Amino acid sequence: MKASFVYKADPARGREWKRLFAERAPHLDFRLWPDIGNPEAVRYLAMWEPPDDLAERFPNLELVFSIGAGIDQFDLNSIPAHVPLLRMQEPGIAVTMQEYVAMAVLALHRNLIDYIGQQRVAVWNALRVRPASQCCVGILGLGQLGAAVAERLTGLGFPCRGWSRTRRHLEGVECFAGDGELTTFLSQSQVLICLLPLTDQTRGILDAKLFARLPHGASLVNVGRGPHLVAQDLLAALDSGQLSAAVLDVFDPEPPPADHPLWHHPRVLMTPHVASMTQPEGAVAMVLDNIVRHGEGREMAGVVDRQRGY
Ligand code: NAP
Ligand code: GLV
Repeated sequence: MKASFVYKADPARGREWKRLFAERAPHLDFRLWPDIGNPEAVRYLAMWEPPDDLAERFPNLELVFSIGAGIDQFDLNSIPAHVPLLRMQEPGIAVTMQEYVAMAVLALHRNLIDYIGQQRVAVWNALRVRPASQCCVGILGLGQLGAAVAERLTGLGFPCRGWSRTRRHLEGVECFAGDGELTTFLSQSQVLICLLPLTDQTRGILDAKLFARLPHGASLVNVGRGPHLVAQDLLAALDSGQLSAAVLDVFDPEPPPADHPLWHHPRVLMTPHVASMTQPEGAVAMVLDNIVRHGEGREMAGVVDRQRGY
């Protein structure tokens, strides 16, 4: 029985995966959900949202791949303990995140939100321009994406600091670690970027208590997950002036309800969860490399630590 690989995510990109698999892994039967073929032949699954009863449905599963960097959409208990879950690590996801965060930080730093508001009411009012070197950016999360973003922003001239669970050492970035150093990290972060995974420890981290520890008038970029943010606390911080603006890519729920105040807030820019996107070329290379490594009993890239939850 030929082993099969089932893809369950955006169908348009799935067709690109199918073409790449045909070229690079003809020994695997690549299948696009819901055309799964014989469930007993399914060894590998790649998906954004897992189906119910995953373990019962696919009794011979060997590896589960998340199509994205985040894995919070998975119920870890529904994946058998002997089946590794791998999160996406491919160059395209980091490059597109670098682009988005650079765009957001530059928009905030160069007052784009003010000018959008001014244009709507035909106001011509030049605001003071300061160089990037006077705007310190703080990055929550220094993993594959946080580190890539720090590198890009440093290149644009923004002094960068970052915060992680364990201590990281990144050239040109002031690194902080653990809850004990969070307040010091926040105290100089004029633009705060959230690139944390969603876990029990990080849910709701972007709240009133955290905003109060930022410099007055700081701004926020949330590209982590919607439930990192307490939306009511953000609205209160924007109204009081403690925060001056926010760029939000992720929401809880997605999309937010039509009457949610964020939609029309003059100090908020919203995008529909597009900060970065897994690119088929790099993703297929990463997935196939991991399948080979798994077969040879070698270490794989992106294995989720179930204890840590990311
Ligand atoms: P990653 O490589 O696993 O990095 C996660 C970082 O967060 C690590 O530095 C980790 O610390 C830190 N961290 C985790 N829990 C923490 C805690 N309790 N306190 C302090 N630091 C903590 O993840 P990634 O690939 O960079 O992705 C990060 C997240 O970005 C994803 O989980 C997803 O939610 C989000 N994302 C969003 C989009 C989008 O389009 N909006 C796209 C891709 C990803 P250690 O270094 O000590 O482990
Ligand atoms: C997208 O949000 C991802 O996790 O890759």
